[in-house]
Amino acid sequence: MRIIVANDYEAMSKKAAHIIVSQIVLKPNCVLGLATGSTPIDTYKELINLYKMGVIDFSDVTSFNLDEYFGLPKNNPQSYDYFMKANLFNHINIDDEKINIPNGMTDNVVRECAEYEKKIEAAGGIDLQLLGIGRNGHIGFNEPSDHFEPKTHLVQLDEDTIKANSRFFDSIEDVPTKAISMGIGSIMKAKKILLLASGAEKADAIYDTVKGPITPKVPASILQLHPDVTIIVDKEAASRL
Ligand code: F6R
Repeated sequence: MRIIVANDYEAMSKKAAHIIVSQIVLKPNCVLGLATGSTPIDTYKELINLYKMGVIDFSDVTSFNLDEYFGLPKNNPQSYDYFMKANLFNHINIDDEKINIPNGMTDNVVRECAEYEKKIEAAGGIDLQLLGIGRNGHIGFNEPSDHFEPKTHLVQLDEDTIKANSRFFDSIEDVPTKAISMGIGSIMKAKKILLLASGAEKADAIYDTVKGPITPKVPASILQLHPDVTIIVDKEAASRL
């Protein structure tokens, strides 16, 4: 694991954007795994700036998002589909046909999950997977568990995750209790992984991920076994390392 401690959220976001740009320069038709949540917002802003400056071209890039709430339509402002359009896709030249996000409104969730895995494989696998991390050590929506989930699947969200994510909703009752998420296996198959964390509330999860035992109780701890992981943390998230 390569650990980079950035001064603050802004510095973390700029470093992350430059790694993503390098990936696109190296392989213009690369496959990016993307995340939602607060953490990558300024990374996406920086990518938009660099795109507008003519530094990057997304036209051949394929993307796969990690997860989507189950039961939220795409046009719901809290859906991850909506988030990705508002925070990145609407501002760059990515081809709509090359954007992949699990369909949270599917009437056959087993088939949706299996097809998502097949699509990732058919695209040649993920070259660079961007990750945030939950306070409980989740990546994607792979919550602490007694086993590592291999593939894309339907998840029952943890109480802590529902509480954390309620900040985006009018009330906690509005937060979906389920999501479709890429599995730990799907994430670990990515050729490179870039995990970002900022703020003191992530310090324990980062400590457990980097220094703790590898256990499904801290899903991100499995990243210790991946051959190419970069973790960029700000000083607060790094405070226990
Ligand atoms: C989002 C995702 C989640 C978030 C995590 C951290 O697609 O998969 O694992 O990365 O919940 O969320 P924030 O960044 O809002 O603290």
